[in-house]
Amino acid sequence: MARRDESLLLCFMLLLPGAAGLLVVNHPGPVCGVKGSTLTLPCTFSTLKSVSEGGREVLVKIQRVVWCQNHAICQGSTPSVYDSESERRSNPRYRYLGDKEGNCTLQITDLQETDDATLRFRVEADHSSATFTGLPGVRVTVRDGIPMQIKNSSEADALLCTALCTFHHLEVTWFRDGHALPQSGPSLRLSALTAKDSGNYTCALKDDPRTTSLPYSLQVEAAGGGGGHLLPLIVSVVGGVLLAVALLLFCILRRYFITSGFKI
Ligand SMILES: *[C@@H]1O[C@H](CO)[C@@H](O)[C@H](O)[C@H]1NC(C)=O
Ligand SMILES: *[C@@H]1O[C@H](CO)[C@@H](O)[C@H](O)[C@H]1NC(C)=O
Ligand SMILES: *[C@@H]1O[C@H](CO)[C@@H](O)[C@H](O)[C@H]1NC(C)=O
Repeated sequence: MARRDESLLLCFMLLLPGAAGLLVVNHPGPVCGVKGSTLTLPCTFSTLKSVSEGGREVLVKIQRVVWCQNHAICQGSTPSVYDSESERRSNPRYRYLGDKEGNCTLQITDLQETDDATLRFRVEADHSSATFTGLPGVRVTVRDGIPMQIKNSSEADALLCTALCTFHHLEVTWFRDGHALPQSGPSLRLSALTAKDSGNYTCALKDDPRTTSLPYSLQVEAAGGGGGHLLPLIVSVVGGVLLAVALLLFCILRRYFITSGFKI
């Protein structure tokens, strides 16, 4: 069934060579999300603005926009996850953040295994030459229980808990030497480190030990602390000020002695 639809679509596209550049859907390449998280697929599209009908240009009106899973054309009554003309045929976990003008952004909340599919977007207009389905579609992969990774973000002074997949709207638990820390965001701030912060850090998605990362070993030297870096700065600033004052004094004294008739 799907294969026949695909070849039909190919014929359709070959019949409309000039339209290929105008009928487009732009969305990201394959995306991957962690089960339970929220995935947003940014998407834009464009179609013919007008068609010529008996010698005059007629504006095209978009009548319906649809997102389908695993279907090459997504036309007619094909099961859909979002259908602008039918709430009944839309999945409540799929939110259409786009419009009928050129934005086809789709958001999937509480990602489930059933969302692992190829999604395609279809535009239906009042003229068949402006009606089309975006190819190849977006491949959405849903992962469950994959280990997280800890990355050192040197510019932000923080450790980041990341995954190869998107995990928006999921809480993270941080551990130091196996003990849970109070922080629950994907980024663990590490400003003003002291020796007590040393240890082996791991992170995992909340209540999901399967996702525990490999340990990240952090060693903070006990002696000196932050003051150690400041000391050379203080010495050079104070030294510079003292030198300037001495020079100024010398000049003032010299002028005083010259005007008083003494020689230095
Ligand atoms: C499409 O709509 C979404 C949600 O409203 C918005 O975040 C995004 O910036 C829009 N994209 C464009 C290209 O306008
Ligand atoms: C992060 O990495 C940089 C260089 O790779 C290192 O100098 C710095 O100490 C690291 N920070 C932490 C908190 O591990
Ligand atoms: C952290 O792990 C390393 C080996 O991976 C181990 O040698 C070290 O003792 C550990 N540190 C703590 C505080 O458990």
